[in-house]
Amino acid sequence: MGQSIAIVGTGACAPAKILSNQDLAKLVDTSDEWITTRTGIRERRIAGHHEPPSELAARAAAVAIADAGLTAADIDLLVLATVTGDMPMPSTACLVQRRLGLPPGAVCFDVNAACSGFLYALEVARAMLAAGRHRHALVIGAEKFSSFLDWQDRATCVLFGDGAGAVVLGRGADPARGILGCHLGADGGDPALLCIPGGGSLHPASAGSLEHRQHFVKMKGREVFKFAVRAMAEAAREILEQHHLTTDQISCVISHQANRRIIETLSHDLGIPLDRFVINLDRHGNTSSASIPLALDEARRAGRLRPGEITLLLAFGAGLTYGSALIRW
Ligand code: ACO
Repeated sequence: MGQSIAIVGTGACAPAKILSNQDLAKLVDTSDEWITTRTGIRERRIAGHHEPPSELAARAAAVAIADAGLTAADIDLLVLATVTGDMPMPSTACLVQRRLGLPPGAVCFDVNAACSGFLYALEVARAMLAAGRHRHALVIGAEKFSSFLDWQDRATCVLFGDGAGAVVLGRGADPARGILGCHLGADGGDPALLCIPGGGSLHPASAGSLEHRQHFVKMKGREVFKFAVRAMAEAAREILEQHHLTTDQISCVISHQANRRIIETLSHDLGIPLDRFVINLDRHGNTSSASIPLALDEARRAGRLRPGEITLLLAFGAGLTYGSALIRW
């Protein structure tokens, strides 16, 4: 029997500044009541000027490395998921390598799958470790969405928050434990459902792009909601079937934290009781690729991920992208 690839350490970083629904109601025409009933979000964290994603990522990763009983010198692979990186070039992963003092020669790169980014990064790192070329991988989701929000658009600015989460992957001795598998997919049929249209080579920064507010998140919320529920339910069924598991064998579900109603619908559609879902979006909002590792770290520290039990991870995001993963602790 072979070895497994397992999560051997976790960490998270939430910026100190809290922005409540009441604070938002002073900026745009909204209310705590609307945001809470439509989304479940009560507050979110907002990173400061000197807290780009690389800084949040490095803080979360330092905790994860220490949690794994390792040092920066032990990490030879870093896969970082983000869509709000410090700058278009170089990758945020390389900036994190510098901040953490990872050894020169470590392989460091970014992955862009929006809110599904952490699961995409996890699968890439898992496969690279399984191929035998690396010893320990850092997988990070880090975002500063507050820099890409239109603070005049009440339909989007109330939804997102900043943060980072990290895990360290290593080899486990027990092949029955660790990451059992990942299932990923994308449907690029309609990029306009959820995008930041400006700032890339198609619409470079210009007076016009600024005037048309193209550097901010644009979203068709209802369509994305429907896709989210459908894609995550299908991704869950697919991976459970692949591993001959039933929903009763899942003790904990960590899904992307976008909207409490999405999670409630998912719970109903999959027949998994809501109390098995980790929900922290009330305190963080949607932190995109950081949401799953942030929730995972909180769940682990709260004792919700017990040895031998199975956790299901579920994500959806811009692209549109989706994914699922199974982990036995
Ligand atoms: N405060 C008050 N009223 C608001 C607000 C607000 N913050 N935002 C929208 N409204 C109004 C609208 O203007 C509209 O008014 P109208 O009926 O007079 O036209 C009304 O509320 C209803 O708007 P809808 O957009 O239809 O509201 P809905 O119930 O669909 O909720 C929401 C909107 C919360 C965005 C929901 O559609 C949703 O959660 N969608 C999924 C979004 C998501 O998960 N995005 C993350 C993707 S992950 C990634 O990759 C980034």
